[in-house]
Amino acid sequence: MDKLKQLVVSVAVFLGLFVSGQALASKLADQSGSDEPLGSRSIMSPAKIDARTQPAAKVCLQGEDCASAQPAVAAGSEEAKSPEEIYNTTCAACHGTGVAGAPKVGDKAGWTSRIAQGNETMYTHAIKGLNAMPPMGTCATCSEDDIKAVVDYMVSESK
Ligand code: HEC
Repeated sequence: MDKLKQLVVSVAVFLGLFVSGQALASKLADQSGSDEPLGSRSIMSPAKIDARTQPAAKVCLQGEDCASAQPAVAAGSEEAKSPEEIYNTTCAACHGTGVAGAPKVGDKAGWTSRIAQGNETMYTHAIKGLNAMPPMGTCATCSEDDIKAVVDYMVSESK
């Protein structure tokens, strides 16, 4: 064997030892905490495999133990919307842009004459409708008090 060959072989042997040493080390690290005997061919115990391959979610039937862990949904938990939310979800479609001559919220000049009519007139127009202004501003879930509160909100934003 000439010197070069010898060198190549010893480097290869060294690398081989190094790599298998690394593999063994990571194998050992992986097994820490498991009750498996060292040197066993499988790295993971069946229990560990089960734990890792569990579905992300489980269906829990009523009456099953797991069901008690669910947070109870409070009855009537749907919260009332604030005037601002109602404005943003229903009225802003017209009053945000001024569609069909709707007075734009924030446009002081557009509201002065309407404010001058007094709140009651504006409430009535908002609730019953006025020309292109639809009754209740199309808000099907709003009460008349909701509409009045939204009118107050729109006016306060436009003064
Ligand atoms: C489909 C478009 C549209 C929607 C949606 C709408 N409005 Fe209007 N609104 C109008 C128009 C157009 C006018 C102007 C009517 C006129 O003076 O001829 C108006 C006018 C008004 C006025 C002034 C009334 C007056 O006496 O001068 C108020 C207050 C008002 N709207 C409130 C609301 C509220 C509150 C909502 C939401 C709950 C709403 N509007 C949704 C189109 C709309």
